[in-house]
Amino acid sequence: MFADLLPAAKDPILSQSFICQQDPRAKKLDLGIGVYRNEQGVTPVLSSVKKAETQLLATQDSKAYVGLAGCERFNNAMITLLLGRDSTRTEVVGVQTPGGSGALRLLADVIALTNPNATVWLSDLSYANHAPIMKSAGLNVAYYPYFDAISKTVNEPAMLDTIAKLGKNDVVLLHGCCHNPTGADLSYAAWQTITDMTNVQGFLPFIDIAYQGFGRGMEEDVAGFRYLAERVPTYLVASSCSKNVGLYRERTGIAVIASSSLAQSECIKSRIMECARSTYTMPPDHGAAIVRTILEDASLTAEWLTEVTQMRERVQSVRTSLASALRIKTGTYQFDFIEQHQGMFSVIGTNDDQLKRLREDHAVYLVGGGRMNLAGLQERDVEYLAECLTNVMAR
Ligand code: LMR
Repeated sequence: MFADLLPAAKDPILSQSFICQQDPRAKKLDLGIGVYRNEQGVTPVLSSVKKAETQLLATQDSKAYVGLAGCERFNNAMITLLLGRDSTRTEVVGVQTPGGSGALRLLADVIALTNPNATVWLSDLSYANHAPIMKSAGLNVAYYPYFDAISKTVNEPAMLDTIAKLGKNDVVLLHGCCHNPTGADLSYAAWQTITDMTNVQGFLPFIDIAYQGFGRGMEEDVAGFRYLAERVPTYLVASSCSKNVGLYRERTGIAVIASSSLAQSECIKSRIMECARSTYTMPPDHGAAIVRTILEDASLTAEWLTEVTQMRERVQSVRTSLASALRIKTGTYQFDFIEQHQGMFSVIGTNDDQLKRLREDHAVYLVGGGRMNLAGLQERDVEYLAECLTNVMAR
């Protein structure tokens, strides 16, 4: 049966961390996988999460199945977090999923079920797992221009020119905030234009929000998305609690469906639950129970928001330090974009040879294409990293 089977290609994100772990050198920097680490280099369990877990331990009285859509209290709390308390939308439903990737896949499955010829348009560049997920669901993948490698900003005119040509068989995948991998986010004006375009042209917006709170703030990060969400009848969202609640290994996410009527949203939801049933049946409960416990309790929510602010501010501070160290070392402003980007990542413009030299000569690990996880960098390593980057890129 398996005689001719070849091993899978290494995952471009996950493999780097594994190789870094095997690296025997004492001084090494794992800036690959998107995981937050504090100044001690630790990915902490948030204090709000610990408190929620303590409550759950004391009160949970059953491990019986929850249901195909997971915990509806979690789903409702997450929809409110995404859309805001003032949202006027009443036709929005959710399905709890195993992480944000699980949400992306289920939503891709339901698109493929409805329209097998649909094309999902991804930003160029995009999250390395977007294309594999969409293709595994049987969807076509195409790219709209996004990142300008010279200015390190979004080329919005080129992006909007391409999207202006799309129609009913097209799905436009947008990053809600903290663009992965580039760190360059859409302007509010671009969200407004895309909102108008979708209403006229009929393409489906599919929004991936995996880093809410890591850019400018929990509310600020979804301002553009909320503009669209209040004005476009039908859209899909994949969201994750891996980063902002630090629940990476608990695989906690949500697929959100909005359409022109509650009946239609429930219909789409039923088909998503059918897809879930034929793959893993139900999502794991623990992470969702933690999130629901936090979001339903005002004091735990306040504590969690403070913890997210601390994580965000640490990443922003490391960005500022690295940009400043590189300004001094290179005598140029060429790395100032690091300070302006949002969220965990920046694409810093290293080519394959420079990435190899960073890895082999300096034990600095980035993802292919030059994505750097600033959320994994400590202040104590900023000088070292600036020196390594200057050696490899600017000299
Ligand atoms: C990342 O982009 O590094 C994370 O989202 C981890 C993953 O699953 O790819």
